[in-house]
Amino acid sequence: MRIGLFDSGIGGLTVLKELIKVHPNHHYIYFGDNLNMPYGNKTKEELRCLANNIIEFLIEKQVDLIIIACGTVSSNIDLDLKRNHNIPIYDIISPTIDYVNKNNYNDLGLIATNMTIKSQIFKSKIKKIREQACSSFVPLIENNKINTDECKNEIKKYLLPLKEKNVRTLILGCTHYPLLEKQLKSFFENDVELLNMGTILANNLKLSNETDYKLELYFSKINNQVINNVENIIGDTKINLKVIGRC
Ligand code: DGL
Repeated sequence: MRIGLFDSGIGGLTVLKELIKVHPNHHYIYFGDNLNMPYGNKTKEELRCLANNIIEFLIEKQVDLIIIACGTVSSNIDLDLKRNHNIPIYDIISPTIDYVNKNNYNDLGLIATNMTIKSQIFKSKIKKIREQACSSFVPLIENNKINTDECKNEIKKYLLPLKEKNVRTLILGCTHYPLLEKQLKSFFENDVELLNMGTILANNLKLSNETDYKLELYFSKINNQVINNVENIIGDTKINLKVIGRC
């Protein structure tokens, strides 16, 4: 099967990684729109325009289905996208909401982008959840600053209120955040369970068995930093440039 995925940058690679683990024998086509990142503060109109352009590109690549590997797009405009394109489109958030509701978590927290928190998608479907928008995390991750004091201070600023309220299960509501796993666990002194939306989606997705693995990676901006990040996450360095236009 030809599976298309997209995000604002390297975040969706955390979803791709989980998909490859569970469903290795498929042809994956990934688009990271790092030229336009971060998506977390964009308006719905901007997100719609960017996502439509990317979906058109993936359709040109003849994908059989598309996964929105972005919490911000999934939480704000997934219904529009599903309605307006004649191809199966899966959002990244619904499987996590179902999973959490089935498993009766106590002390549940959510961190995500401003736009995802603003959408109230989690709050409206999960009974008790403490939420925190973490607007600086994505630029820190994309710019390879996750091991700096600046990042440590930002984690403390955003997560201290959740720690003080005894949050012990934390939904990573932005697909970039699994890349901060080590730093987040260390802040919680390992006393936290992190829920990765990519893992939950990969375990839920029903795909027919196929035999050939292939990966195509496209980014709207390429520099050494992106190449290093992709290599660290996926172990691949063959990245193609595809600019899809600004909105
Ligand atoms: N990784 C995306 C998300 O899950 C986009 C984050 C951003 O670009 O702000 O929300």
